[in-house]
Amino acid sequence: MTASLDQVARLNRASMDPSNPLAYLPWPSTGSLESDPGWDVDLPTPLGAVIPERRCRGLLAKSLACHLMATGIAFERELQAGLCDHLARLDPGSAEYEYIHHEMIEESRHSQMFGRFLSLLPDVPRDDGLVSATLAAIDLSEAARNHPELLFLAALAGEEPIDRLQRLLIRSNELPELLHQISRTHVREEARHMAYARWALRTKLPTVGPKRRRRLELLAPSLLLDTGWLMIVPPPAVLEANKVVLTEHNVDLLVGLTHEITSGLWGFCDQLGIVTRTAERLREQWRPKSAFHTR
Ligand SMILES: [Fe+2]
Ligand SMILES: [Fe+2]
Repeated sequence: MTASLDQVARLNRASMDPSNPLAYLPWPSTGSLESDPGWDVDLPTPLGAVIPERRCRGLLAKSLACHLMATGIAFERELQAGLCDHLARLDPGSAEYEYIHHEMIEESRHSQMFGRFLSLLPDVPRDDGLVSATLAAIDLSEAARNHPELLFLAALAGEEPIDRLQRLLIRSNELPELLHQISRTHVREEARHMAYARWALRTKLPTVGPKRRRRLELLAPSLLLDTGWLMIVPPPAVLEANKVVLTEHNVDLLVGLTHEITSGLWGFCDQLGIVTRTAERLREQWRPKSAFHTR
């Protein structure tokens, strides 16, 4: 380590708070996560359900876990930028102002935790380019300044599918202990974030005008499904590195699972009154943007 990086490592240690997952999780030494026998157990993921001949074990299981962490980091980066811009709209003495700071601090810690996990598996293929490009296209900072309702729907679009996947991981006790505990920590803290985003949508949406409401109606189907897909299907580069080839039938099954994993949030959109006939049609016609080599 160079002298200057050594200084940053010292600053990190001096900043460590005991409630930070970096301080309390059972971080293994370099190399031992790679050889953890827990990777020889099938990772419960939608991809494994769709292509049962490719068991989600070993390198593929590590790749899928790393994809989840890399996607989480990319998503949290965009979300934090949006939340930070949203603060400018709020009274610094308000409960919401205080809560958004809690959420940003927790998201920062999640990214630290996911990043530490990735650092322990440096040779596992990953690619967050698609996630970053998809989320950057939504421009959550612009949404936060002008359409906060879109920011909160985007928060739920990312948080709900990742929550579903991590609950699956928690149920399997045989996986590497670290993966298990990261999932538990994230699920526990995200429950608050989702509760806040749902509250914010319920209270803010009735105050927005018809133009902004119409924009949300038109964006909601692709926002939910694109984000859900990114969470459950690794990008083509990661699939190729693991020699996973999706058939057209596999893609159809994964589209069905993406609908299923986002159905709870779609039901919430219906309660909010933003599921119109046009929105239903857009949802039915949705297809993933990723270019797969299918056979
Ligand atoms: Fe998070
Ligand atoms: Fe969150």
